[in-house]
Amino acid sequence: MDARNLYKAAAGRYDGDMEYRRCGRSGVKLPLLSLGLWHNFGSVDNLENCIEIAHCAFDNGITCFDLANNYGPMYGSAEETFGQIMDKSFRPYRDELFITTKAGYDMWPGPYGEWGSRKYLMSSLDQSLKRMKLDYVDLFYSHRYDPDTPLEETLQALVDIVRQGKALYVGISNYPVDTLDFVFEYMKQRDVPCLIYQGKYNMLNREPKDSGILDACYSNGVGFTAFSPLAQGLLTNRYLNGIPADSRMARNFFLKKDVLTDDFVESMRALDQMAEQRGQALSEMSLAWLIRQPEVTSVIVGASSARQLKTNLNAVRNTSFSESELERIDMILK
Ligand SMILES: NC(=O)c1ccc[n+]([C@@H]2O[C@H](COP(=O)([O-])OP(=O)(O)OC[C@H]3O[C@@H](n4cnc5c(N)ncnc54)[C@H](OP(=O)(O)O)[C@@H]3O)[C@@H](O)[C@H]2O)c1
Repeated sequence: MDARNLYKAAAGRYDGDMEYRRCGRSGVKLPLLSLGLWHNFGSVDNLENCIEIAHCAFDNGITCFDLANNYGPMYGSAEETFGQIMDKSFRPYRDELFITTKAGYDMWPGPYGEWGSRKYLMSSLDQSLKRMKLDYVDLFYSHRYDPDTPLEETLQALVDIVRQGKALYVGISNYPVDTLDFVFEYMKQRDVPCLIYQGKYNMLNREPKDSGILDACYSNGVGFTAFSPLAQGLLTNRYLNGIPADSRMARNFFLKKDVLTDDFVESMRALDQMAEQRGQALSEMSLAWLIRQPEVTSVIVGASSARQLKTNLNAVRNTSFSESELERIDMILK
């Protein structure tokens, strides 16, 4: 049966617990939780499951979907999957969606298929739009800093992408803290301010806070969105009792088995107990720990099932922590 246009978004999608936080000093608000399509949306994955996760997200107030040119596997296939979901379900809701993609990492062979040249960024975005069946994306990111391309060239490409109408906003991801002043000033001067910084941030990896990235964004009116907020599943109950066969750790090389030392698992069990005392699953507490910080605009979570996503959505219900709870988390993770 052709599932085209059979989807009707939940009528109460904006009446639940989801909140929308202003992105820096811009006009746009993002949901506290965004959905990331790095894993579980490739051509190797089950399309019905992808659709179910995407519907679950939108039906529960998640308006922001985060992609990149090479998400899959195969490269490009997460964007193709999203293009199918646009066709089957989301097209009537386009103006309710905030769709993001990126270019920076390895995408196609030869000298123009990665990093930060104008040539690569412009062609990559054109490809992404075709795969996702979109006229424009809401946000386009330079996915990583390129030390060998003049920063002006990368940033000017971002500015021009906005002027061409192919993206409404632009942002950066994984840039070193010492480039930020230049980036923010360059873009401000050209009336295309950097909307947001995307960085890896979770209870186990606090680099954005420790390095000053979070403060630099906040004080410049630039939003911050956290990726891998669950440390790819480590900050959930997934690995408390071994490595499930269907888990990311068992299935691919992005999450290495050697992190699961006895000490580490013991720490995760202690966090899990603490979450239980708060009436939350560990994944909820891990997300809430990020959301409690006003400098964090949104948290991009991944999920391999709608069930996982539903659990994670509960995180927004309790995002306050007492000082002693925060200290206890720090002590457990020391
Ligand atoms: N800018 C960048 O360089 C960059 C880099 C990485 C990611 N990102 C973005 O951030 C997004 C999220 O990254 P991520 O996938 O690493 O995020 P994550 O939220 O840290 O990890 C997601 C994984 O955790 C597990 N999980 C999620 N909810 C769970 C629950 N309730 N119970 C048990 N396990 C649960 C699932 O793993 P299983 O598969 O084992 O079920 C899921 O695939 C990406 O999709 C992408 O959009 C950006």
